[in-house]
Formats: sequence, C-alpha cells, structure tokens
Amino acid sequence: MTGADPYILSFDTVDSTNSEAARRIQAGLIHHPLWIVTKTQKSGRGRLGRQWVSDEGNVFASLAWPAPELSIAPQLSFLIAVAAQQLLQGLVKDKAEVTCKWPNDILMDGQKISGILLETAKTPKGEDWVIIGIGINLTSKPEESRWPATCLAETMEPPHPQDIIKRLHRNWTSLFQIWEDQGFTPLAKKWVQCAFGLGHEVRYSVKNKMIVGSFTGLDETGAALIRLDSGWVERIYAGEIEFSQGVGD
Ligand code: BTN
Repeated sequence: MTGADPYILSFDTVDSTNSEAARRIQAGLIHHPLWIVTKTQKSGRGRLGRQWVSDEGNVFASLAWPAPELSIAPQLSFLIAVAAQQLLQGLVKDKAEVTCKWPNDILMDGQKISGILLETAKTPKGEDWVIIGIGINLTSKPEESRWPATCLAETMEPPHPQDIIKRLHRNWTSLFQIWEDQGFTPLAKKWVQCAFGLGHEVRYSVKNKMIVGSFTGLDETGAALIRLDSGWVERIYAGEIEFSQGVGD
C-alpha cells in the first residue's frame, strides 16, 4: 500500500463503520491499515454517546490503524482533523473558511461539517489498534444538531465519497510521517493554525464549577488550554468547551 493507494473495504450499509472495524480487529481479521467505508449507517455514533445521522451521500469511514502507545493515541484524532481541514479547505479554496474546533470537529464558516470519533480495539493476540472514525457532510446535514451544521454542497459540487477518502488518506499519511519523525509538537502547531475560536472566551464546567477563560491552544498531549483572568492556565482533557456567542463573526 502507498499513501496514494489505501486499502478500502466498502459496504452499502453497516451499523457503524467504527463497530465494523472493531469486530474485524477483535476477530483478528485486520493485519494492515484499512479504511472501512459505507454508503449509510444504521446506528452511526458520535462522541459522548450521541447519534450520527448517516444518510446516503455523505462520508462515513473508519481507518483501522495499528496503535502507537495508547496514552498518545488520542493525538491521532488531531492529525486526522488537520488532514480533513486541509482537504476541505483545498476543495472550497477561498469560498469558505475551514477550521478545527476542539477536540474533534471540523467547521466550515463556523458550522459543523465533520466529526471524528476515535476508539480502540484489541486483536486476539492482545495488540492494540486505533479506529479513527470520521463523518463528513457532503450532500446533506442533520436537521437538528447541537451546533449549527452545514454540508459541502452548500458551497460547491462535492466530489464522490471514495475520492474524498483517497485525498484524506494522502493528507493523513504525510501528517503521520511528520508525527513519527518529529512527534506531536509540529502537528499541534498545524492544528492551532486552523483552530476555531483561538483567543476567544470559552466555558467549561467541571464538578459544579464553571471555568471561564480565553482559549489559547493545545498542550503537547492535545489538552485544550484555557487562560483564566488570573493568568492561570487550565488544561482540559475531555468533554466539551462552550464557545461564547460571536466567535467567528
Ligand atoms: C462527533 O462529532 O460526535 C463524531 C462523529 C463521528 C461519526 C463517524 S461516521 C463514521 C464513524 N462511524 C460511526 O459510527 N461514527 C464515526
């Protein structure tokens, strides 16, 4: 396999490409990086147990990838986010601005166009693999969503989903090469360069306490950095940060 020529296993429908990848890894059926793609999902899953609407025409794909050390595996979700941002920005050119929203969303002009769900699974021999699931709204967007949503068709005629996967894989392999050679720091820098809401006020609630501060980027592990008025910098490792009104205006 080369960066330009990924292994792709295609379905008309599955429950979830992440679940399909997990079953295959757990059954010892995957021995090399593999994309699992489908036209529709019956039970598409989002982060935090949410549903991912999966109508035909959009991208639903999961990359099964031999895991690096598990503690640093979450960094890969930032790599795929940058790969997707580069891909989408390259397609829409200056017609729209594509940004990465912490932790795992891609926005187009401030509206969600793509989401990422990173999971792990073990082979029968006990080897860890990561499953990097990505959904990209090409031709349709969910009618209801927590964050305003969009799709590529609102800006341009979208390419075919298989073409999107091939382009995404090319971006992914070159970013992964940088990650292997130089670690996460240059990738975190790339993510921050296209981050949504940098320098804007954000809120994060933890244990009945509300943290309010300015979103200043990522640390070396992928945690979001929030600078409080006092100057103290909080690191947020999981969950959601709420951006105040007006970001991106
Ligand atoms: C999110 O924004 O909450 C993450 C959405 C991830 C959706 C993708 S679609 C392909 C893969 N299979 C799933 O069931 N989920 C991911």
